[in-house]
Amino acid sequence: MPQDREQAIEKIRRDHEHMTELVRRITAMCSERGRLDNCNQCHSAHRDVCHGNIEALIRAFVETTLRHNLMESMFMEAGVPHAHRIAHNRAHVDIAEQLKAIRVVFAKDGNAVLAIEGIDRVLATLRNHLQEFDEQLEHYLLAEA
Ligand SMILES: [Fe+2]
Ligand SMILES: [Fe+2]
Repeated sequence: MPQDREQAIEKIRRDHEHMTELVRRITAMCSERGRLDNCNQCHSAHRDVCHGNIEALIRAFVETTLRHNLMESMFMEAGVPHAHRIAHNRAHVDIAEQLKAIRVVFAKDGNAVLAIEGIDRVLATLRNHLQEFDEQLEHYLLAEA
């Protein structure tokens, strides 16, 4: 736990912004959204670049999410009620599992349109998580100071 709680909160918020930005970049990858429902219908030169980028971005998103959970868990070790820590961790595991499922399906069917829809749902889950858990975590950290 850093000496300065404000610093911890800053770090958490920066991560949240970074994760939201990764989602934005993933969804921005596809220019055919709403027009095509499968990458098979897209021209192959575009598809290959697009798939490589999306795969790398999803991987970055998974890694950031896992690292972020570890950081928050560490910050929570002092002063956060046990029940909140458990529920918070469970919620992070759920997000990681959603991401893993998207990667597995994407690796198999190569349909980025579907993967992006999944990532959109992850963003909604993440936003709920921020409201439900991380705002509360900030309050705990500030109360400790
Ligand atoms: Fe968080
Ligand atoms: Fe969290």
